[in-house]
Amino acid sequence: MVTTATDVTAAGPQPPLLRTENLSVCIDSHGERNTVVSDVNLELTAGRTIGIVGESGSGKSMTAAAIMGILPPVATAQGRVFYQGTDLLTLDDKARRAISGPELAYIFQEPMSALHPMLSIGAQMIRPMRIHLGLSKREARERSAELLDQVGIPKSRGLLGAYVHQLSGGMRQRVMIAMAISCQPALLLADEPTTALDAAVQKQILELLLDLRDQLGLGLVLISHDLGLISRYADDVLVMLDGDVMEQGPTADVVANPTHPYTRGLIESAPRIGHVPRRLPTIDRAKFSTRALADKEAR
Ligand SMILES: Nc1ncnc2c1ncn2[C@@H]1O[C@H](COP(=O)(O)OP(=O)(O)OP(=O)(O)O)[C@@H](O)[C@H]1O
Ligand SMILES: [Mg+2]
Repeated sequence: MVTTATDVTAAGPQPPLLRTENLSVCIDSHGERNTVVSDVNLELTAGRTIGIVGESGSGKSMTAAAIMGILPPVATAQGRVFYQGTDLLTLDDKARRAISGPELAYIFQEPMSALHPMLSIGAQMIRPMRIHLGLSKREARERSAELLDQVGIPKSRGLLGAYVHQLSGGMRQRVMIAMAISCQPALLLADEPTTALDAAVQKQILELLLDLRDQLGLGLVLISHDLGLISRYADDVLVMLDGDVMEQGPTADVVANPTHPYTRGLIESAPRIGHVPRRLPTIDRAKFSTRALADKEAR
C-alpha cells in the first residue's frame, strides 16, 4: 500500500502488520531461472484491506505464498517480508512456523483441493486448534461449531461429520473461512475466495470477510482477477501483470484516475450493466508486460 503511516498507540509507534520490501519470487526449472514476482512493495495495517488484482499467471498467488512461507520447492523468495516488524524471510522454518502457523491464515484458491477429501470437516477443523491453541478434542469441537455459526452455517453440529464433496460451493468457502480464522490470526490472505460462486453468494462471502476483518481487527489481503470486485471491497490496490506491479495506491484513486495505461485498459474492458458496447475493448498486454516484450525480442 501506499499509506506509509506507522500506527501510533499508547505504547508508541507500532510497525505495520505487514510490509514487503522488493519481494520477488524466482522459479528454477530445467536449468533456467524465471522471475515470476518482481519487487512487490506493499504495506497493510490492521483493520484494512489491500487488493491484489491481475490476470491469470500475473503472480498473485506466488506473492501470497511467499508472504505465507508456502512456496513450492522450485520457487525462492527474495527481498523482505516484515510481519509486525520481524522479517519472516530471515527466520528458520521452526521460528517461522511458530509465527505464521497461528497468526497468518490463507484461504486457498481451490477449496476442493485445499480440504482433505477423506477427512470429515470436523476432523480438519479440530487439528490446527489442538496444535496452535492447545485445546482438547472436546473444546476444539465446540469451538468448530461456534466458528461455523460465526461464518453463517448455523446448527452446524451435523456438518462436522460431513465431507467436502457433500457441501455446496458457498458452504465450502465458508468452511475454509472458519478454518482460516480458527486460530485467531492477525493477517488473512484470501486468494480468489469467490471465483466459482454465483454473484449473490460472492457478495455474501465478501461481506462476511469484511465483517470478520472488522470484528477481529484483521488485516486482509484480497486477491482477485476482477478489478470491479477489488474496487468495491479493498482500501488499497496493487495491479500486477506478469509478475510486475503496474500500479498501486488507494483503490478509489486508482480506479478514478488510473495512471498506467494497463490499468486504464482493465477498467475499460470490464463489462458494465446498462452499457453494452458493440465490442468490448481488449488490452494489448504485450505493450506493458516486460516478460512478453522479452519473449518477443528473443523470437
Ligand atoms: N508450482 C509451480 N511451478 C512452476 N511454476 C509455477 C508454479 N506455480 C505457479 N507458477 C508460475 O508462476 C507464475 C505466477 O503464477 P501464480 O499462480 O502466482 O499466478 P496467479 O496470478 O495467481 O494466476 P491465477 O489467477 O491463474 O491464479 C505463472 O507463470 C505460473 O506459471
Ligand atoms: Mg492464483
